[in-house]
Amino acid sequence: MSKAGLRQRPKGKEKNTYELSGDEKREEKWPYANGQLDPYAKAIGAAVVIVMTVLITYFRYQQYLRDIIITPIDSPLIIPANGSSPTVNPSRFWGTYRPQAYFGVKSRSKTSPVLGLMWMTQLTNQMPPPLRHWCDQGDGLESYVWQKHDGESFGVQEIKEKLYTIKTEFLKQPGGDHGGDWSAKISFIPKDPTRSVVVSSFFYLALDQDNGQLESKITKGRLTSVSGWHEDLGTFEVQMPNIAAAEGAKAGEKPQVKYSYFVSYAKQLDQLKDILVNGLKVEAWDKGRTQPYFSLSGRRVPRDVAGPNFMVKQVTAQLPFTMEVIYQSGSFVDRQEELSKEKFTAVMQSKEQEFDAKFEKVFLLAQRGYKVNEINFAKSALSNMLGGIGYFYGSSLVKSRYNTEPINYWEAPLYTAVPSRPFFPRGFLWDEGFHNMLIRMWNSDISKDIIGHWMDLMNTEGWIPREQILGTEARAKVPSEFVVQRNTNANPPTFFLPLQSLIKEMIQSNKPSDKAYLKALYPRLRTWFNYYNTTQKGDIPFTYRWHGRDPTLTKQLNPLTLTSGLDDYPRASHPTTDERHVDLRCWIALAAGVMRDIARSLGQEWQSYDDTHRLLTDNTLLDKLHWSPKAQQYSDWGLHTDKARLEKPKPPPNQHPSQRPQQMDTDKIRVILTEPSKQFVNAFGYVSLFPFLLKIVDAKSPKLDKILTDITDPTKLWTDFGLRSISRNSKFYGRFNTEHDPPYWRGPIWINMNYLSLSALHHYSSVEGPYKERAKTVYSSLRKNLVTNIFKEFERTGYIWENYNDKTGEGKGSHPFTGWSALVVLMMAETF
Ligand SMILES: *[C@@H]1O[C@H](CO)[C@@H](O)[C@H](O)[C@H]1NC(C)=O
Ligand SMILES: *[C@@H]1O[C@H](CO)[C@@H](O)[C@H](O)[C@H]1NC(C)=O
Repeated sequence: MSKAGLRQRPKGKEKNTYELSGDEKREEKWPYANGQLDPYAKAIGAAVVIVMTVLITYFRYQQYLRDIIITPIDSPLIIPANGSSPTVNPSRFWGTYRPQAYFGVKSRSKTSPVLGLMWMTQLTNQMPPPLRHWCDQGDGLESYVWQKHDGESFGVQEIKEKLYTIKTEFLKQPGGDHGGDWSAKISFIPKDPTRSVVVSSFFYLALDQDNGQLESKITKGRLTSVSGWHEDLGTFEVQMPNIAAAEGAKAGEKPQVKYSYFVSYAKQLDQLKDILVNGLKVEAWDKGRTQPYFSLSGRRVPRDVAGPNFMVKQVTAQLPFTMEVIYQSGSFVDRQEELSKEKFTAVMQSKEQEFDAKFEKVFLLAQRGYKVNEINFAKSALSNMLGGIGYFYGSSLVKSRYNTEPINYWEAPLYTAVPSRPFFPRGFLWDEGFHNMLIRMWNSDISKDIIGHWMDLMNTEGWIPREQILGTEARAKVPSEFVVQRNTNANPPTFFLPLQSLIKEMIQSNKPSDKAYLKALYPRLRTWFNYYNTTQKGDIPFTYRWHGRDPTLTKQLNPLTLTSGLDDYPRASHPTTDERHVDLRCWIALAAGVMRDIARSLGQEWQSYDDTHRLLTDNTLLDKLHWSPKAQQYSDWGLHTDKARLEKPKPPPNQHPSQRPQQMDTDKIRVILTEPSKQFVNAFGYVSLFPFLLKIVDAKSPKLDKILTDITDPTKLWTDFGLRSISRNSKFYGRFNTEHDPPYWRGPIWINMNYLSLSALHHYSSVEGPYKERAKTVYSSLRKNLVTNIFKEFERTGYIWENYNDKTGEGKGSHPFTGWSALVVLMMAETF
């Protein structure tokens, strides 16, 4: 029935009947017209209505179920939509918020233009020589370290190539309505001044698609500046780098400097490097040199785009040389002086002094007797954490059991530190709680801003996707199979660690801003806690289980528990719904205690949190559920056998080799040698320590004594470099989880867990109990071992590492890894 044919009768006539027009009117000839329908037809009609209603309700309900995962929690945002805008937060608007680039700058606008550096050694025999842009371990740089960075107004970084060092200095100048100006000073310094090295710097500016406008100013064939407009930045001008003097030229030599530029278009920000490489052509440098010199080819804008959005200036010279980039905001009208030359140097100097003074005030390392190079190392660790903070915008791909295909989470910003600039330049939920133990010490406002952003990513179920891969630059770094996040899967709620420190301070100081912050956070925290307490609970009351373990995989020696954060740490060999995980129980106990304290200080109902906290920290119940009498340790419990190994699959019987399918999967598969049974999982390592790590074991419990004995036993966890992740005696120690996956949490020393160990030892050496003195002794030597080794490895290799080899102390895995490994600063400062 067309809508036009349906008209409501004028009022006063029968209710709920409709006047029919045209063809439909003929239906009135139906014998039972005038409302006297055949009872049979009436029944059919009613049935149809019911069926339709049921179907519609059903489909609506299905849609509702599918959408739950992407429905934000109904609670005001912690960081309102304008919270990162230059009007509300000018001091954090611009920053080095592209941790994946060696040097990259952007603003906290969701469609911010990006600026950054690429460079290339020229006149080599490579065709073309490697172009550096995104941090990449494959580049084999000797190091790249933010030596000082305050997370807000400035940063100084050194990037070390084999033949030269690049110093990138970033400095801001407040003013106007759009976050003010900033300048970058970039210096290329040869290691051996007698050796001739020619390097090209490519400094670029790019719009995120067509958000804004750029106009290049080209004078005498040189790109001198770019002016532009963007909705969140207003008008702006960027002075592109110039060399004041060719410092590299020796007396009497003609200075060798060449300029070129590229004005082009990039559809996506992750294509900048490829597009630039395509814009390179080979030229001769001078008559004396035969090696190729690569230079940019000028204007190349495709016809079908609105205009150029990617502009690059190439400066090539013999080392050393220094250049400045100056960004000026159009709304900054009363600027006294531009941020360059002597002014830049002077402001930078005072910023560095401020940084040094604040660093000592916060961490007291000089006072504690650390030497200058040790203090500089600690400054680098902190600065890399702060310099690694990024600003991302986009949506995660997520899936619940109601979705057949992954769907997009809502688009949102994320301001967060990252674990590792080359390898993990994006947000990770459980890392971030650790990061904020350090960040909050330096600048509690930055920390609140970060935690607020994360909490705003919570959906109505209380779930926060654990790995945040937002925006094209971030997605380009992740293989697609790892992109999708599932709402059944949790990750340790480590934000309760910095929140615990915050609430402790708040109870003492009663600072109104802290109280307001916790009050705003509270509804989200309540839902977050409830998510863990309900979705992650085990079959038996008051037990908990990590979800996301796959019992069907055949190649894994022990099915991974990615959700726990400890990936291949051995758990029950056969995942079941009644297994129980001691680490998760302890995390939830911690969370309940912090929730109680927050609720109580806000005058909210806190008794239920207190009840849950008491129950989960009750040592008798804990021991009953998780203490293995046989192994004398805290353990997971589940369907388990230790007797399993990886073997090459046997070929099907009675088959000649030539008859086998060519593509037969020959990867090793797991073979079970002894049938599993329900039991405690007797792998000894970090997971067994959790009741101790999170200070749940009673200070008077003899189990604490046993734990102290075990961690100091060199055949178990003790090494000269920190506590290893799993006992050297364990069957899983150093074992591959599949033919191709080397041990990860099966031996190496991890700094976040060692930080928790020190924190626990610090605690047990300050509360009364029979093991107080013992805890103190262990604390001192563990702390010394960790700090000494991380520092030694930094000096030796130029990097802070993802983890450390338990036999040699050598840094391993991704690097630089200045996420939680940077907690070494807190170990030095004894802040827990
Ligand atoms: C930011 O937005 C809030 C509403 O969400 C508004 O009350 C406030 O005035 C805005 N602040 C500024 C500086 O625009
Ligand atoms: C946590 O879950 C248990 C049930 O498993 C419940 O009894 C308890 O009240 C919950 N705690 C809170 C604070 O909601």
